[in-house]
Amino acid sequence: MFLAPQHPPGAPPLNPTQSVEEALPTTNPGRPGQRVDFKAPPFLPCRHFATFTTSTPTDMPMYTLHINGKPVQAEVDSDTPLLWVLRDHLGLVGTKYGCGIAQCGACTVHLNGNAVRSCTLPVSTLGDRKVVTIEGLSEKGDHPVQQAWQEVDVPQCGYCQAGQIMQAAALLAKKPNPTHAEIETAMNGNLCRCGTYHRIHEAIVRASAKTNP
Ligand code: FES
Ligand code: FES
Repeated sequence: MFLAPQHPPGAPPLNPTQSVEEALPTTNPGRPGQRVDFKAPPFLPCRHFATFTTSTPTDMPMYTLHINGKPVQAEVDSDTPLLWVLRDHLGLVGTKYGCGIAQCGACTVHLNGNAVRSCTLPVSTLGDRKVVTIEGLSEKGDHPVQQAWQEVDVPQCGYCQAGQIMQAAALLAKKPNPTHAEIETAMNGNLCRCGTYHRIHEAIVRASAKTNP
């Protein structure tokens, strides 16, 4: 059933002949119907902004991390995910943010040679373990996996590809001759919205052949 909107009790009666300007409340001296010059309320920063402006860098611990063969320092909250340290503090933006909950693989890096999801890895848990990102996989972008990726022309949009390559490189470092089933299993958690899965698989087989001629 349709219910017509109710006029608020106590409000002045509606005047259908009034213009909007005339209907505006005014406490200013001036002509009737003159638009009121409301003052803008003072700017109130949001809670996050207040947090950023009231905390100083010295409030946060300093971490020495081992990234791509070099010690680097980052002054960040202890629960900051490694991904944000890489991208926001160190400028290593090859590692991508996809889901943020360890479900897509876009943020995959190596931690002591193992493929890990950097989006859910707090910086405080790293200790002196070695992190390798896509920028540090090879000096000239010529890791066998990277070569195979180029030869097969794997990427489409490219967004997931750094994570795919890091996952594949970790697999081949442990299993230089993986079976098709092992490739499927290892790459299962790395999603590609462009559906390049067949080319990824082909490139891994090719990279395996390069390292084991
Ligand atoms: S962004 Fe880390 S797994 Fe998706
Ligand atoms: S190439 Fe586009 S998401 Fe994988």
